Amino acid sequence: MHLHGTSKINDRGHLEIGGVDSVELAKKYGTPVFVYDVALMRQRAYDFKQAFQDLGITAQVAYASKAFSCVAMVQLANELGLSLDVVSGGELHTAMVAGFPMERVHFHGNNKSYQEMEMAVEAGIGCFVVDNFYELEQLEQLSKKHGTIVSILLRTTPGVEAHTHEYISTGQEDSKFGFDLISGQVDRAIQISEASSHVNLLGLHCHIGSQIFETRGFVLAVEKIFSFIQKWKKELGFVPTVLNLGGGFGIRYVEGDTPLPAADYIKATVAAVKQQAELLEVDIPEIWIEPGRSIVGDAGTTLYTLGSQKEIPNVRHYLSVDGGMTDNLRPALYQAEYEGVLANRATEEATEKFSIAGKCCESGDMLIWDLPLPKANHEDILAVFCTGAYGYSMANNYNRIPRPPVVFVEDGEDTLVVNRETYEDIVRLDLPLLVKTKETI
Ligand code: LLP
Repeated sequence: MHLHGTSKINDRGHLEIGGVDSVELAKKYGTPVFVYDVALMRQRAYDFKQAFQDLGITAQVAYASKAFSCVAMVQLANELGLSLDVVSGGELHTAMVAGFPMERVHFHGNNKSYQEMEMAVEAGIGCFVVDNFYELEQLEQLSKKHGTIVSILLRTTPGVEAHTHEYISTGQEDSKFGFDLISGQVDRAIQISEASSHVNLLGLHCHIGSQIFETRGFVLAVEKIFSFIQKWKKELGFVPTVLNLGGGFGIRYVEGDTPLPAADYIKATVAAVKQQAELLEVDIPEIWIEPGRSIVGDAGTTLYTLGSQKEIPNVRHYLSVDGGMTDNLRPALYQAEYEGVLANRATEEATEKFSIAGKCCESGDMLIWDLPLPKANHEDILAVFCTGAYGYSMANNYNRIPRPPVVFVEDGEDTLVVNRETYEDIVRLDLPLLVKTKETI
């Protein structure tokens, strides 16, 4: 059994997280429930920040709030000295409600609406990561209208795509995001930005993928971008003062996942930037990154209660939980794999393999295939590890199932940070059918 962060098995043979017995948490809050190990999130954020500090590099570590956003999480990100990446009006609104300093907010997205951009301009956010020409044009108009200057990065697609251990380097990336490097779209966007008195072009951005276990893709992206800097310097008089390399740092979900320590990703990337900057005799830019999964992923555990089971002799033993693809869409969407234990019988030897099914009316609603567990019964508590990123944030109300609550645990204390949705919440936006009289039919 691989335990993350402060998780351990206590004297009662129960899984304990942040010094709190998970079986007690299940009793107190009901199941399913998301439990976050706050100390582990602190550690993850610290590791990234410290890695830059050790190398004497000016940096911003922005938490990609799409991985998991709620008011308390954004407040924690602030407390940890992180910047914040938002991709929608909703994520921005959460940051505003949380009192997050707007100057450390970066706004992403390939189709920000005019209203969203105006909301961000009025809020005075730190930087727009501009994705396309349409956005650039609208931002120019907006900043004129508000008599302000907005800082921007241009999102580029450097033709490097990384996933886990593989990375693909292509000339031109076929992606909906960003300005293409090879075809000259970035050159044109730089020209437009530099000519504008209403946008302040700070530099460039790229994001090469997610759940990446090696450094090569990041280094390659740096090299690709720098291969254009000479030209921009000469022809456009532009040298980026900020280089944002996105997120994507991998985490361990299951055995065989081999993420690197944060410092290794940072060291390799910084070395590449330094080397390239020296080669071109330009100043080393500020380096910004945007980790999401690697800040919150392994800090999250979901607790479920087991219910019905179905054993098909010589085929499979299904165990159903009281949640599923409504609180964790990743297995259905990406065949993502997870590990888990019986939280109330964590010391007992595994004797059998069980496949964990969700409760939705969908055959694909399976959380884990062939999980070794002791003989499990209904009412046992199943803890699924590493659900902190893209779990709650992609939760949904399929089958009109209310979303679970979220609890932060640290130093033996538990704090509810998101309420469980109620059936009243489920129908809150619904309006009744208007009864038509005979005359109007
Ligand atoms: N920056 C940008 C521009 C991004 O698009 C993303 C993620 C991040 C940062 C954060 O990446 P991270 O450090 O979390 O890998 N729902 C998928 C992941 C989608 C990632 C989207 N972009 C999943 O559950 O695996």
